[in-house]
Amino acid sequence: MSAAEPGFGVYVHWPFCAAKCPYCDFNSHVRHDPPDQARFSRALAREIATTADRMPGRTVSSIFLGGGTPSLMEPATVGAILDAIALNWTVAANTEVTLEANPSSVEAERFRGYRLAGVNRVSLGVQALNDADLRFLGRLHDVAEALKAIEIARKTFPRISFDLIYARPGQTPAAWQRELGEALKLAADHLSLYQLTIEDETPFARLYRAGKLKVPDEDTAAELYAVTRETAEGAGLPAYEVSNHARPDAECRHNLVYWRYGEYAGIGPGAHGRLRLPDGRHATETERNPEAWLARVERYGDGLIVDELLNREEQGDEMLLMGLRLAEGIDIARYEKLSGRDLDPEQLADLVAHGMVERTVDGRLRATRAGSFVLDAVVADLAA
Ligand SMILES: C[S@@+](CC[C@H](N)C(=O)[O-])C[C@H]1O[C@@H](n2cnc3c(N)ncnc32)[C@H](O)[C@@H]1O
Ligand code: SF4
Repeated sequence: MSAAEPGFGVYVHWPFCAAKCPYCDFNSHVRHDPPDQARFSRALAREIATTADRMPGRTVSSIFLGGGTPSLMEPATVGAILDAIALNWTVAANTEVTLEANPSSVEAERFRGYRLAGVNRVSLGVQALNDADLRFLGRLHDVAEALKAIEIARKTFPRISFDLIYARPGQTPAAWQRELGEALKLAADHLSLYQLTIEDETPFARLYRAGKLKVPDEDTAAELYAVTRETAEGAGLPAYEVSNHARPDAECRHNLVYWRYGEYAGIGPGAHGRLRLPDGRHATETERNPEAWLARVERYGDGLIVDELLNREEQGDEMLLMGLRLAEGIDIARYEKLSGRDLDPEQLADLVAHGMVERTVDGRLRATRAGSFVLDAVVADLAA
């Protein structure tokens, strides 16, 4: 796949976690009784079949099992999902198949089961490499458990990545640089490094509003971002996207489908899709609540609650928003063809003059490092 041909990805959402982390606003739920995995896997397979009926004949270039905590799935559940995808579309032999795993639910035997089922890449939610911060983040694992999970993942899968969250309360650039240095020694070829975001309606947001949780100020946050970029790049894992770092050719192909504004199906509770249908590009979204989603799928064949035809302007805005996250940026000609409008030359010149974006000789537009730190504002200016 390439920037010009972004491919077709299938995202499958597993919406359950063992505990809810206080910073997280993903569609993840904790249930007292374990969910009926056989029933959920039948429903996921049914939604895959219904979606494939609308868009038959595609070749899948990547599959991503995300969550929630997909590593709470039995290998048989993962196998049933992957079989359903292969039954309804064509899956090439080298298709990237990623599963997100939480270090507290990593067991060697289950990991072998995922590998046998066809998973070839794992992304681990490590979050921090010191125990005090892991406790503060409400995680169920400690550093020792994270290290063990990384080791098992390395032994089992050809490709692994892990996530860290930085800009934690009180974290200095020097402390983060040391921790990231440790992480880079453990990293294989991909790392996701997220700045802590205070999401509405989370316990962290309530603490923040009450003045009981202080995040680094803007200058410190900018310094932390610069440290992140430089340290990872120095270790051979440059940022290919705002928060994602990889050795060349080790980028997450599935996430590239989103950022290059390709086509993807969203399966499972609360999943989003972008489908190329005969009448144009559709934005889809399914019911978020797992049990309500299950009931809808069992009744109607899918859990869709949004299925909207996007107009050209909306598609152009989405392409900008996604594409400028990438170091490679966007192809200006593709943007203009898709959106049916030219980028405003004055607005562009202004952003270039302020060092926020740059044009390349091969007709691409990309955000500079300063621009990617304030990307939402840059995109708002360009889309206006
Ligand atoms: C769905 S979770 C990953 C898998 C698994 N659920 C776990 O947490 O181990 C995706 C990632 O998003 C990041 N994340 C979630 N909420 C965040 C927030 N408020 N700020 C920054 N990063 C966040 C975390 O790094 C997390 O690993
Ligand atoms: S960060 Fe991961 S484990 Fe924690 S609640 Fe969110 S999805 Fe679940």
